[in-house]
Amino acid sequence: MRSSMDDLPGLRLVIAGEDVVAVQPVHDRLAAQGADVRVRVGDLDELVRALAEDPPEAIVAHPQIEEELRARLDPLGLETGPPVISDPAAVRATVEIRRLRARQRELESVFAAASVARAREAESAQRDTLQRLLQAAGYRDDNTYEHTQRVGLLASKLARELGLPAREVALINHAAPLHDIGKIAIPDSILLKPGRLTEEEFEVVKTHAVLGARVLAGGASELFAVAETIARHHHERWDGDGYPRGFAGDDIPVAARIVHVADVYDVLVHERPYRESLTPAAAAEEIARGAGSDFDPKVVEVFAKFSLQV
Ligand SMILES: [Fe+2]
Ligand SMILES: [Fe+2]
Repeated sequence: MRSSMDDLPGLRLVIAGEDVVAVQPVHDRLAAQGADVRVRVGDLDELVRALAEDPPEAIVAHPQIEEELRARLDPLGLETGPPVISDPAAVRATVEIRRLRARQRELESVFAAASVARAREAESAQRDTLQRLLQAAGYRDDNTYEHTQRVGLLASKLARELGLPAREVALINHAAPLHDIGKIAIPDSILLKPGRLTEEEFEVVKTHAVLGARVLAGGASELFAVAETIARHHHERWDGDGYPRGFAGDDIPVAARIVHVADVYDVLVHERPYRESLTPAAAAEEIARGAGSDFDPKVVEVFAKFSLQV
């Protein structure tokens, strides 16, 4: 059996009460258990002042003043000061629980700070990588850096209009500009060729979808996962005649269905090496004609709502 001397070794306690006679027996009992006990006697104001100035690890208060003393020392119950108890037998357990809670709070704040720092680091690394990829895409896209940005913007508007959650809208906004990143791997002779491509050349161009997806694959973030999906499927058609997989309808990821419309529209209204640009109205008509064959009819429907303003 453990000796009672071991119970409270060196624990700094204050016995608080209104008169010495009442607190003396408690003092003797706790001192016998090895605690470093001081007695403070006085009215409540004096006690509060003295205890706030030099707080012990726990306060054993006379039952008559226990509650009021606790309310004065820790009015919000935040456990910022020493625990106030009236039962001398509960000192050890109370102090241990308090220490554990303090340690737990400390650990929680260390973990929280570390995870915020990690998330910030990861986010800024992602943004950095994305920016570099975008620059690379801008050099090599047969359109321009501006095209990639316009597609991101239009795609995010369509996504919002379709009622996608705000988080997905933001991801599409940032991921859509990378849709043609795979064109980095297509030779200039094909990519920049004025005039129509031969069938073989077109087959080479088509590989940009899978090549782009490969560049973006394996990223740990949601952003790169969305970008990969868009790059891979932005040339799928609603009727299943697109590439690379020939997915049809709802099997095509919605982000890719959206970017498909935004990409084609932007290409139509801007000049290309092999043809003149269309007016926004003519391009919107062309998109409308593709509803249900080339494009998701729901995406075309929301596109039609504001196509003349984009
Ligand atoms: Fe493309
Ligand atoms: Fe494009």
